[in-house]
Amino acid sequence: MVRNTLPGHDYTEQSVFEVEKSTVFARSWFYAGLDQQVADAGQWITVDVAGESVIILRAGDGGLRAFFNVCRHRGSQICDGTAGRAEGVLMCPYHAWCYDFDGALVATPRVGQEEVDRSQLSLHPVHVEEWQGFLFVNLDRSTPMPLREWLAGQRDEPLNLERFDLGQLRLAVTTEAIVNANWKIIIENYCECLHCPTVHPELMDTVKAYRTGWVQEEGRDDGGVTLPPGGNSYSPLGLSTLTVMPTMNEVEANSIYGAMVFPNMFIDMAGTGLIASQLLPLGPHRTKVIAHYLFVADDLVRDDFDPSPVVDFSELVARQDFEVCERVQRGVSSSAFGQGVLAVKDEAVDVFVHRYLEARDGAR
Ligand code: FES
Ligand SMILES: [Fe+2]
Repeated sequence: MVRNTLPGHDYTEQSVFEVEKSTVFARSWFYAGLDQQVADAGQWITVDVAGESVIILRAGDGGLRAFFNVCRHRGSQICDGTAGRAEGVLMCPYHAWCYDFDGALVATPRVGQEEVDRSQLSLHPVHVEEWQGFLFVNLDRSTPMPLREWLAGQRDEPLNLERFDLGQLRLAVTTEAIVNANWKIIIENYCECLHCPTVHPELMDTVKAYRTGWVQEEGRDDGGVTLPPGGNSYSPLGLSTLTVMPTMNEVEANSIYGAMVFPNMFIDMAGTGLIASQLLPLGPHRTKVIAHYLFVADDLVRDDFDPSPVVDFSELVARQDFEVCERVQRGVSSSAFGQGVLAVKDEAVDVFVHRYLEARDGAR
């Protein structure tokens, strides 16, 4: 049976993006950053959930808190930029109202306590949970399913990666790219390897199984794809001088594992670390992609630590992907496009399309 892609307007129309904001992005666990970015009390990061700015903060009790980045006075954004540290309170830069790390309004300079009911003016909370060192937020005003359950329901079974203890890895390099393509086009591209032989010539030497056009390797049932002999990283021929994760056996260390976590995360891992990519939809035609490169903690303090084979290789492959995604964005904007077709090896694209439609239309 021939299956179809989404229609062109789902990738191009502002009205569809608006619906996605109030359905998909308002009710999903959204990959927001790394636990280690908010290691100490008062440290915060912000994340843009399809136009909704959210603050994630480490509270004094060691727990995580998340809030809409909106002051309850006259609506100013409170935290600027993507990361910072608050001393004791979160202070709004406009009229200096202060919130404690639980979001309670604790000071309103030049405004008497009898004027405003502070108890009714806490920051609006957002659900936040951590998994294996990764932070996820959920804007759902009611109670969403627990993050673990959400992850258990993912086609690519990210929970299988828990056996490697991903939380032990440390951030070494961060890259950012603006891609002129809809977020769904970037995910669909990630979900298939039919394009790999044409688009990624260098990758074909590192991951020979991808020459078949399948993302999985025949004969392996652990989700791994084999690197060349001696390979342990996502790099030319898989070679590096990096340290292998102590939680991996020899076969695992000589493999690549990948997972797409709906709706905005890719995990690409090899024996020596992983790349966590975060998709931040900026509009129907534009997506920011942030890649965090994590490695074994001991490696980061080594004098000869050199992540560049991994970073350069991964950025090359990512650029090749982004170029074709932008090409697709231009193509699906044509009145001639209508809908595309999905081949057998586009299977995971089909699964994504269904999950997306369920999240978007099932939620209305
Ligand atoms: S808007 Fe934040 S203190 Fe006035
Ligand atoms: Fe690709």
